[in-house]
Amino acid sequence: MSGELAVGIHDLAFATTEYVLTHATLAARTGADVAKYHQGIGQTAISVPAADEDVVTMAATAAATIVARHGSDRIRTVVFATETGIDQAKAAGIYVHSLLGLPSAARVVELKQACYAGTAALQFAIGLVHRDPAQQVLVIAADTSRYELGSPGESTQGAAAVAMLVGAGPALVRIEDPAGLQTADIMDFWRPNYRNTALVDGQESIAAYLQAVQGAWKDYAEQGGRALTEFRAFCYHQPFTKMAYKAHRHLLRHCGLDAEAADVDRAVQPTTAYNSVIGNSYTASIYLGLAALLDSAVDLTGRAVGFLSYGSGSVAEFFAGEVVPGYRTHLRTVQHRAAIDRRQDIDYARYRDLHQLTFPADGGDHLRPRETSGHKRLYES
Ligand code: CAA
Repeated sequence: MSGELAVGIHDLAFATTEYVLTHATLAARTGADVAKYHQGIGQTAISVPAADEDVVTMAATAAATIVARHGSDRIRTVVFATETGIDQAKAAGIYVHSLLGLPSAARVVELKQACYAGTAALQFAIGLVHRDPAQQVLVIAADTSRYELGSPGESTQGAAAVAMLVGAGPALVRIEDPAGLQTADIMDFWRPNYRNTALVDGQESIAAYLQAVQGAWKDYAEQGGRALTEFRAFCYHQPFTKMAYKAHRHLLRHCGLDAEAADVDRAVQPTTAYNSVIGNSYTASIYLGLAALLDSAVDLTGRAVGFLSYGSGSVAEFFAGEVVPGYRTHLRTVQHRAAIDRRQDIDYARYRDLHQLTFPADGGDHLRPRETSGHKRLYES
């Protein structure tokens, strides 16, 4: 901690898409054994955006509930982390700022570094609050993960937005110093400007992630962080939920500890409930892990949680948070389960049509019919 001031996550809410494609449906199409998806990668369903959904609509839906609860008077900064933004120049957060009627005396910016940027946004927010504890920062992490149809990555797609209100005296999680950092210039996963699906070397990306876990932990330890045994649970970036198990086993062994299945389960399983049915939401995924953990039956009062954020390319960060006594009364468990349960099941043909949908590039205005049911179509472009 820098000084005595407790700063961290005061509220957290997520939103996901209108549609869901199950891995059973996908397996029937690809011919894969569904157990490869259910057990092998730990995924049972993929959130699929409707034609009128994107990172802005998901982000606004998630953040609207935070603003409804706390108001927006103290929000002077909005940081929107995404690798699937909608404009190369204008920050997606400006649309959210406008849709939610946030104060005009605010700074709004978009951050990108693959699946890591949400953590950079959180750390920058904490720095701003330390400078002026009266201010709050709205941090949003939102992404739609898209790989080519028929590619190995297809089963790890997904979409979601997590909104977090960061401030002094947080009701949920106090974020601690120090952080462990690692950057390495590698090509394990990337998406050049001319593509709307990601390029990835699947096995190399897994190896790169594990190397990054090790590197970020090493720096965290050297900076004087907690011992590994102090943590009750670990939120990892979850491109698919089995990756969190792989990462935790790797970290335990790297630290010379046994990686007993029961211990790995205890540390990781409570963080996977949302990601396993939503899929990879890139920069939002680690914070969906936190949402699942806080909403789980585990009593985390006063307990330390480890966070390992990984963004291909690559940047990794390990940091710790302490769960605040009384946190349960501030959770949004019912809202979160409803966001998942309300999705409409779609068949493969509908999913494929949505996947292949492209928007006109002629600069004109093209209104699409409203498809979403749970919230109004939020903005037009
Ligand atoms: N029953 C049970 N398990 C089965 C099975 C069956 N019938 N068939 C296979 N499996 C298991 C395999 O043993 C394997 O598990 P282990 O890794 O524990 O051995 C698992 O299912 C997956 O099988 P494969 O490795 O054969 O699968 P694949 O090569 O077709 O694809 C993947 C897996 C590489 C992860 C692919 O989905 C992919 O490319 N995903 C996108 C990239 C990705 O997610 N990378 C993660 C690290 S990078 C990152 O984290 C950033 C990011 O968000 C992208």
